[in-house]
Amino acid sequence: MIFSKKCMECHNIDIKLKGPSLRDVTKKRKAEWIMNMILNTEEMIKKDPQAKILFKDHVVKMVVKDVNEQDARMVLEYLRSIDNNINLDTIPVKE
Ligand code: HEC
Repeated sequence: MIFSKKCMECHNIDIKLKGPSLRDVTKKRKAEWIMNMILNTEEMIKKDPQAKILFKDHVVKMVVKDVNEQDARMVLEYLRSIDNNINLDTIPVKE
């Protein structure tokens, strides 16, 4: 849900929109890198060599609004589940 509200304006799993498609991003990048990209986008684009290259290749700049660390972590888990073909709906939720 967070992904569709906060990210899908620019990202799709398989199709390049304003931002890159995100399939297998959790295999390409470390978890901390992705967390940083979501939470400290500005700084990443300025300082991280990989984020800099991505920024050069895209017309728009990634801007994430009102996403806290917990939200970012959930989105990361969501992306990871896609990359590992896990359907989160089939995993029982712990009470
Ligand atoms: C306003 C459009 C926009 C929104 C909203 C947005 N992004 Fe992005 N994203 C981009 C662009 C553009 C890039 C490429 C880097 C750049 O130009 O800033 C990018 C890059 C990324 C990357 C790096 C991809 C790679 O190949 O390494 C990840 C991961 C990512 N975004 C995740 C997210 C997540 C998760 C959200 C939602 C919390 C989100 N983005 C919201 C536009 C957006």
